[in-house]
Amino acid sequence: MSMVRLENVGKSFGSVEVLRDINLEIEAGELVVFVGPSGSGKSTLLRIIAGLEEATSGQVSIEGRDVTFAEPSERGIAMVFQSYALYPHMDVYSNMAFNLQLSRFSKAEIRTRVEEAARILQLDDLLERSPAQLSGGQRQRVAIGRAIVRHPKVFLFDEPLSNLDAALRVQMRLEIDRLHRELEATMVYVTHDQVEAMTLADRIVALDGGMVQQVGRPLDLYHRPANRFVAEFVGSPRMNVLDRSVWGAVGNMPGETAFVGVRPEHLQVATGSNVTADNAASLVAQTRAVERLGNISYGYFETGQGHQLVAQIIGNTDLKSGDPVVLSSRFADMHLFAADGRTIMRRELTTPVELN
Ligand SMILES: Nc1ncnc2c1ncn2[C@@H]1O[C@H](COP(=O)(O)OP(=O)(O)OP(=O)(O)O)[C@@H](O)[C@H]1O
Ligand SMILES: [Mg+2]
Repeated sequence: MSMVRLENVGKSFGSVEVLRDINLEIEAGELVVFVGPSGSGKSTLLRIIAGLEEATSGQVSIEGRDVTFAEPSERGIAMVFQSYALYPHMDVYSNMAFNLQLSRFSKAEIRTRVEEAARILQLDDLLERSPAQLSGGQRQRVAIGRAIVRHPKVFLFDEPLSNLDAALRVQMRLEIDRLHRELEATMVYVTHDQVEAMTLADRIVALDGGMVQQVGRPLDLYHRPANRFVAEFVGSPRMNVLDRSVWGAVGNMPGETAFVGVRPEHLQVATGSNVTADNAASLVAQTRAVERLGNISYGYFETGQGHQLVAQIIGNTDLKSGDPVVLSSRFADMHLFAADGRTIMRRELTTPVELN
């Protein structure tokens, strides 16, 4: 039995349809990430699972029980939001205890639960502080603590880290990963940050325009995107997707191919006028900019017709703006898309994918 099950869930606000025909099963202990651009329906879907929003159609079940019309408090879920409004006049202990007190848990039980959560979140020494005396990361941990003490069946996170600075975000991301493993908890996590999605998720649900575009393990989405949307959304810098004609005659390409995608790490950059790589497609371009990050560099290129491409170069490079280059890619590394964006599978050309 799945922990969370969504069947044909749809949602409209008035005449505006924001979710369509969502089918999804989340297993106990899984960390599933909803990812997609702003307005794609991530929060709405999470709020439907939480019971903060009612589905217009379809059914929501938690542990086999139909909760489509159940109150949030009856669902066994706990939600953590981006804005973790703590009670400013209460100390950390009371902030975590507050909901349990409302639910009339015994003092002893409350103490046990809060101390357990504090230990897991390394807040033991901060229980008597007020929120004003905490760093952003510590406050966010208290907000997560308020969820942990409730021993929910499912944790729901809506962009919980987006108010934190970059370094803290990385640290908290690792915390959530550790928490997930230590609690063996079922978690649904919403983000528009594809790096967060790739690093945290057991499975990713990619949403666009209120519809599920693909469900799968992170590297599945990376190596075998179902369509152009997923191909371009997952991976940074994004995949170079160009009109098929830009690559000229590439042997053995199915007739329905409309667009060809190549990831930056699969573009070889040659400064000579000849490309010698076997079995490769190539095009001529001019260097527009070079970014050197130390371990890798990114080259930005433009073709004579104004098409832009990004290539990853290992280590440093003496390439400079204005240099003419030949960019090439192996056929096997090319992603082919039909006019409607659908990926055209070409088994003989896809490299085997190592999955964790
Ligand atoms: N209460 C509401 N009334 C009307 N439209 C709404 C309401 N809530 C959300 N929407 C619309 O539903 C769509 C999906 O919104 P949602 O908040 O789920 O997006 P999201 O993927 O979480 O985006 P973001 O990354 O910006 O948080 C948007 O177009 C939004 O404007
Ligand atoms: Mg949102």
